[in-house]
Amino acid sequence: MPRYARLVNRIANEGSAAWELLFRAWKDQKAGEDVIVLAIGDPEFNSPEPVIAAAKQALDDGLTHYSSIPGTMELREAIAARTMRVSGASAADYSITADNVVVTQGTQGALFTASLCLLEEGDEVLALEPMYLTYEATFALNGAKVVRVACPRETGFRPRPDLIEKAITPRTRAIVYSSPNNPTGAVFTRDELRAIADIAIRHDLWVIADEVYASQVYAGEHFSIAALPGMAERTVTCGSLSKSHAMTGWRVGWVTGPAQFINHAHHAGIAMHYGIPTFVQKAALTAINQCEAEAEAITETFRRRCNIVLDRLAATPGLAVIAPQGAMYVLVDVTGTGRSSAEFATELYDAEKVAALDAMPFGASADGCIRIACTLADEVLAEACNRIHRFAAMRHNTRKAS
Ligand SMILES: Cc1ncc(COP(=O)(O)O)c(C=O)c1O
Repeated sequence: MPRYARLVNRIANEGSAAWELLFRAWKDQKAGEDVIVLAIGDPEFNSPEPVIAAAKQALDDGLTHYSSIPGTMELREAIAARTMRVSGASAADYSITADNVVVTQGTQGALFTASLCLLEEGDEVLALEPMYLTYEATFALNGAKVVRVACPRETGFRPRPDLIEKAITPRTRAIVYSSPNNPTGAVFTRDELRAIADIAIRHDLWVIADEVYASQVYAGEHFSIAALPGMAERTVTCGSLSKSHAMTGWRVGWVTGPAQFINHAHHAGIAMHYGIPTFVQKAALTAINQCEAEAEAITETFRRRCNIVLDRLAATPGLAVIAPQGAMYVLVDVTGTGRSSAEFATELYDAEKVAALDAMPFGASADGCIRIACTLADEVLAEACNRIHRFAAMRHNTRKAS
């Protein structure tokens, strides 16, 4: 037999118990069981109507051919304008154009593009954890080593410049983080971003800023590190419409950065996808230019749902809910129940058929927490909270009795 490339070992999903639980839940749900799945960041509602209409119209108009590989000019212009708008910076401090944008297959495609163009075998990338689950494979696939740097639980999952600095070696090439963060919901402040920028400049590093939740902020403000002095030339920013416009399945996003990076990203696009479908790009253009109100309503929906979880579980024995500043998840510290987060998630599922993720795989700082994705209708979420409450209370009572 011919052999497989060694990289397949780097991208193999470790099959963490967290995912196994999700797969089990989907299977049980298909079999007709009364299962509530709160394990994945994909809302139950569909993309805004005008977006769907734009895609249909584009297909009717014959936009079924190869597309512009870096993205159509009109979409790249719209993305540049939106990126500046949500950056939190003034136009005097942060200005990008279509020349700083490449359209990708979602934020995931943007992260992989960054990995391909910025990193190579032997490089180290400092990933601030808790972090999104694909980072490990996305950067390891290109030979880089992901070095996890804690944003500790005790400090509210804030970035710690001293820990970042300590992790730097001669091989360090980049720092990657998401803010608003999945799974913690932490939104990094300007001062925290300044401290990260200062380290990046002093050690001549890239910063890969995952801003997929940029428009979903409930406390504090979103700020783009690219807008800080000296950062535009060393930052690549990844984003998409997956979360802001409930467009997870369209696989459309972008990476922004210095013009030379964009040139490389264009070449990577030729090798990877040869252009995002034009009818999808038309739909994305409609989302950005015509669906601001829908995006605001989506943010409001997630804010309300996060509050439902916070309210309903606030008095649950053994649980400590952690209020997110942004994104669409609530972390719940379950250590007070005497169970590990993995045990709690599995036993909760067995007892109540509510699937929430053990947050430990996102990083050691989230150990002891489960992540609840606020992606189902309010009443379903409320019912899930009732079940979680019942389970935690039952565990608490058995613990007290024994
Ligand atoms: C932090 C973070 N980055 C990237 C992604 C991937 O997003 P996309 O659908 O845009 O590829 C997700 C999805 O959950 C995420 O949470």
